[in-house]
Amino acid sequence: MARAVQFELRLAERMSRLGTETAFEVLKRARDLERQGKDIVHLEIGEPDFATPPNIVDAAIAALHAGWTHYGPSAGYPELREAIAKEVSRSRRVEVTSDEVVVVPGGKPIIFFSILALVNAGDEVIYPNPGFPIYESMINYVGGRAVPIRLREEKDFRFDVDEFAGLIGDRTKLIILNSPQNPTGGMLSKQDIEQIADAIGDREILLLSDEIYSRLIFDGEHHSIIAEPGFKDRTILLDGFSKSYAMTGWRIGYGVMRSDLAAQISRLMTNSNSCTASFSQMAGVEALQGEQSSVERMRQEFQRRRDRVVPGINRIRGFSARMPHGAFYVFPNITGTGLNSKTLADRLLEEAGVACLSGASFGEFGEGYLRLSVANSMDNLERALERIEHWVSKSISND
Ligand SMILES: Cc1ncc(COP(=O)(O)O)c(C=O)c1O
Repeated sequence: MARAVQFELRLAERMSRLGTETAFEVLKRARDLERQGKDIVHLEIGEPDFATPPNIVDAAIAALHAGWTHYGPSAGYPELREAIAKEVSRSRRVEVTSDEVVVVPGGKPIIFFSILALVNAGDEVIYPNPGFPIYESMINYVGGRAVPIRLREEKDFRFDVDEFAGLIGDRTKLIILNSPQNPTGGMLSKQDIEQIADAIGDREILLLSDEIYSRLIFDGEHHSIIAEPGFKDRTILLDGFSKSYAMTGWRIGYGVMRSDLAAQISRLMTNSNSCTASFSQMAGVEALQGEQSSVERMRQEFQRRRDRVVPGINRIRGFSARMPHGAFYVFPNITGTGLNSKTLADRLLEEAGVACLSGASFGEFGEGYLRLSVANSMDNLERALERIEHWVSKSISND
């Protein structure tokens, strides 16, 4: 009979390069504090605080009763792929066909699969910094070289296109863009997109354009590089249902890309998830084709909160925040407090009862900032502002 054997776990070497998303860790710490009886205002989470619109929930329930409970095609059901192709063709003003669409469980797997499918060890990937931490994590995981393009506060958290052009080289395999942007709320203008396209020219480089916040815009219009002449076949457009339709837990998103790459991403789906949940996909069809007024209502509410939180933050000593133009985050500069981002975020959680994220968890150029999510009620946002202000006046010296 075999004996129980104790031994040290020896992970594959690549696991040491895998990063994380701090939001989930901070949420856990905040919940632990709540279990100890502390009252915490949650500004760390990046998900709408609204319920999924009822027409979408009803469609999912009907789909469950109708038997959409089995495996489906790895790339997604034709009904949904067609609905997505139509929606992207309309919104981005570019002709997209359903064989260029892959449905996956959330927006995140498009990042995971694109990098896994395209980036060899030593290949360079340019990505926004501060930015969604999964980009850097995945580039490192596959042994690629992560090349940050710095987002600049003085440019409303856009990057300098000349600086960007200087980073493109022979080893550049992939460029990641994200607009509207997490964590800064910055947005690329039409002119930025044109200049980025000019800087890339006719090089054989692919772009991963993360547009998951494309329906959450407060000022200006959404522009996608997929619509630039010559860029349709070089762009992987990432979008999904999580943020626009408050469907984070349904796990459904998609990528739009040239059909030969779509076939390869589908192979990765076959090897990992098999397919995206069938009833979630039917709910996705309803989300795209049904009543859209709930999207606009949520957008307006986020804008109302942004308009309240930014002036409130700017009244706090040591904090200064720009108006985000999209998404649902405020990214104040906190260098005036004299504390680094992590220390300030930790102390606000433990001493003021406000959970938010250190800017440094979005990359090296996020140091000196905090990310506050406005995906919480106005009452809770008011409470958070009061608590931060009170804590700063008590704990940070005046000089
Ligand atoms: C920029 C960005 N891309 C992708 C995602 C992933 O979205 P999903 O929950 O649909 O996987 C997020 C979620 O926070 C995000 O902020």
